[in-house]
Amino acid sequence: MSWYDNNKRNLPWRVSKNSPKKLYYRLLSEFMLQQTQVKTVLPFFKKFTEKYKSLKSLSTSNEKDVLKLWEGLGYYRRARNLLTTSKILVNKFNSRLPESRDEIKKLPGIGDYTASALLALVHDRPAIAVDGNVKRVFSRILNKEIDRINFEKVIKDNSKKLFYLKRNSDLVEALMEFGALICKPKDPNCNDCCLKRNCKYLKSNSKINFSRKKIIKNKNYDIFCYINKDRKIALTQKNQISFLKNFNLPKVKESRSFKNNKDWKFLKNYKNSISNLKLNINLYYKFSDKIPPSYNWYSLKKNKEFIPSFTKNILRQVSTLF
Ligand code: ADE
Repeated sequence: MSWYDNNKRNLPWRVSKNSPKKLYYRLLSEFMLQQTQVKTVLPFFKKFTEKYKSLKSLSTSNEKDVLKLWEGLGYYRRARNLLTTSKILVNKFNSRLPESRDEIKKLPGIGDYTASALLALVHDRPAIAVDGNVKRVFSRILNKEIDRINFEKVIKDNSKKLFYLKRNSDLVEALMEFGALICKPKDPNCNDCCLKRNCKYLKSNSKINFSRKKIIKNKNYDIFCYINKDRKIALTQKNQISFLKNFNLPKVKESRSFKNNKDWKFLKNYKNSISNLKLNINLYYKFSDKIPPSYNWYSLKKNKEFIPSFTKNILRQVSTLF
């Protein structure tokens, strides 16, 4: 904890215990930080808190505006869940976070991890949000692989020692911060480590390995773009593509193998990676003013609607036709 007091980064969501913004800033930052690094989140957090100054103002917004502001941060389900959660907190809980873990976990987008984070960060309760950073810190201290550690048990068995300072909000952040700045995945800064006397990793001759192998999945997609005479492209929300369900996309079909399609002209083949998916895309187009019912016309330049970057990428490729 004294390491944290002397070394913590000045992050905008780390507001004082009594700040009226505490719940809003903690909720927003925890949603944004799910799957996303601090440095990526910072500009989005700033933009968001400038437009929506309180939980209440967020809660009276609408999905279109929230998604537009979230554009570029990815994992858009988080934005929809955040909006719904803000509405529930304002309307049902008088803009406060419920006290019970079960009640908190009923909020959309909040699982065990975020519930623990919020219990500690908002209510200063003895809970630890065990993210990748925290897992690595424990794993190094014990020199035991992450998969072989029962974190719930380790925390329970050591709870008297972990929570004795009664600075539970700071403790959660101190562990994350320590993992991010000192006990890093590669090249941990063991020289400057205040825990080195108790660290089995440092002393061991057979150190465990943290090089994470990301499991990459290859997928083939055929994408079909209707183009009208105003050079607009038809998008629909009726796609059932897992990573962008219910977003504005052209017609997208998962394909086993590349087959030329008679009705459509082939434009190009290109690759696009999204998290652990490597997409191999065959792009087709057809000039037509007629489109199926669930489609609407969009243009990349004029459009003020939220369009995911996956789709923007497609629109850019198609615009090379003009
Ligand atoms: N990751 C998740 N929550 C965080 C926080 N409060 N500070 C830094 N990184 C985080």
